Amino acid sequence: MDENKIPLHIGLIMDGNGRWAKKRLMPRSYGHNAGMNAMIKIAEHAKVRGVKYLTVYTLSTENLLRPQEELDGLYGLFRKYFTKNVQKLYSSGAGVKVIGDISVLPQDVQTLLLDGEKNSPKDCAFWLIFAINYGARAELLRACNLAIEKGEKLDGKSFGNYLYTQGVPDPDLIIRTGGEKRLSNFLLYQSAYSELYFTDTLFPDFDESELDKAIEEFSKRERRFGKIN
Ligand code: FPP
Repeated sequence: MDENKIPLHIGLIMDGNGRWAKKRLMPRSYGHNAGMNAMIKIAEHAKVRGVKYLTVYTLSTENLLRPQEELDGLYGLFRKYFTKNVQKLYSSGAGVKVIGDISVLPQDVQTLLLDGEKNSPKDCAFWLIFAINYGARAELLRACNLAIEKGEKLDGKSFGNYLYTQGVPDPDLIIRTGGEKRLSNFLLYQSAYSELYFTDTLFPDFDESELDKAIEEFSKRERRFGKIN
């Protein structure tokens, strides 16, 4: 693998947990649990490969319309994940960030996420960014309204300061598992020049070698950013 062509920032749309569970005649929660385990492995492997930011699309604004039982199961997984892994992440030099409107989540989940951010080491080699109740359209409207409230006229540079991703470089590569070929309201502004990688693999089956395949494919792409070469 060409070490000079490792994406600095990967966005990951983790799709297919439900179908993975259904194939095994199991409830959707079983798929989400397997998805959480896959996410942990992928984050560790991305760090080993030299990726600096991994943004995981954990819950979209639209996902919040799912049955309360499924949402409660997902909140339970956050609790489990954070309690078990956050200290391990810190001691390995990694930090946590959250993007999205978390104010509608259960209070204790909000606290876990905010503390997770606050207690992260300042200068991290790797950032795991959770997109939770995140939607790009809501993010863009929020950014515009914040700027209007301040009476600020925006330009390409200052606009970024109003986005949830402030200070984080745009994703170089966006991976979507589970067979669909769309972005589903994920990082729409930031992905203007991202390379897109789609795979039919359902998220719980997306392992280290699958991530390597995506990075390898990325390393072969010619990125022109609208220029000739
Ligand atoms: C999409 O699969 C996945 C989600 C809506 C949730 C993503 C969550 C995880 C991977 C695990 C949670 C991680 C942590 C840190 C707790 P889907 O349910 O839409 O699958 P389907 O398209 O097959 O129905």
